[in-house]
Amino acid sequence: MKVIITKDYQQLSAVTAEVITKQIKQNTPSVLGLATGSTPIGAYKLLCQACKEGELSFGKVSTVNLDEYVGLPSSHNQSYAYFMRKHLFDKVDIDQSNTHIPNGMAQNLQEECASYSKLAESLGVDLQLLGLGSNGHIGFNEPGASQDSSTHVVTLAQSTILDNSRLFDDISQVPTRAITMGIADILRAKKILLIASGKNKAQAVLDMVSGPVDSSCPASFLQLHPDVTVVLDQDANSLLNY
Ligand code: GLP
Repeated sequence: MKVIITKDYQQLSAVTAEVITKQIKQNTPSVLGLATGSTPIGAYKLLCQACKEGELSFGKVSTVNLDEYVGLPSSHNQSYAYFMRKHLFDKVDIDQSNTHIPNGMAQNLQEECASYSKLAESLGVDLQLLGLGSNGHIGFNEPGASQDSSTHVVTLAQSTILDNSRLFDDISQVPTRAITMGIADILRAKKILLIASGKNKAQAVLDMVSGPVDSSCPASFLQLHPDVTVVLDQDANSLLNY
């Protein structure tokens, strides 16, 4: 794993946007694996700005998102489909038919998972962007996740429900299940870029980079991938101390 320490969230966002921009400019067409959560918002903002200024185009980009809550329609302001439109898709020149997010409202969730896994594999992700849960999750692969998992329905860990409740009016409104790309889906990407910011990620960062490869920290499976870059701010690096 290559680890880059940045001085703050602003610099972390700039480095992230730079890596994504390089991917898009050097490889046409590009398939991006995208993440939600608070961490990538700064980088998405910079990409939107670059697009607005005519320095970057998403015209030849396809995207595959990692996960979605079960039971939230795409019109719900906490669905990941809504998040992606708000923070990226509605502000860049992407063809929205080339954007993909699991459908958490599907009648048959098992079928949805199987077809999403196949779709991601057939598109072939060039660069996968990942955030990190405070419990070491990637996507919604919670502790206990298996290395060979493909897209599946998960029951969210209590710590994840608690972390994400900040975005809902009340904790009782946080969905308890989600669809997530599995560890095997994620590891299939050609390159992986994981970003983490804040003190509450420091333990998960330490376990991910220097702990054993073990399902107790799903992000530690990234040690098995040949091309992973981890970008941290000072707080997220506070226990790893690179
Ligand atoms: C969420 C998402 C993840 C995200 C992580 C961290 O629950 N499912 O894909 O990376 O948790 O989120 P944040 O960046 O808000 O800390």
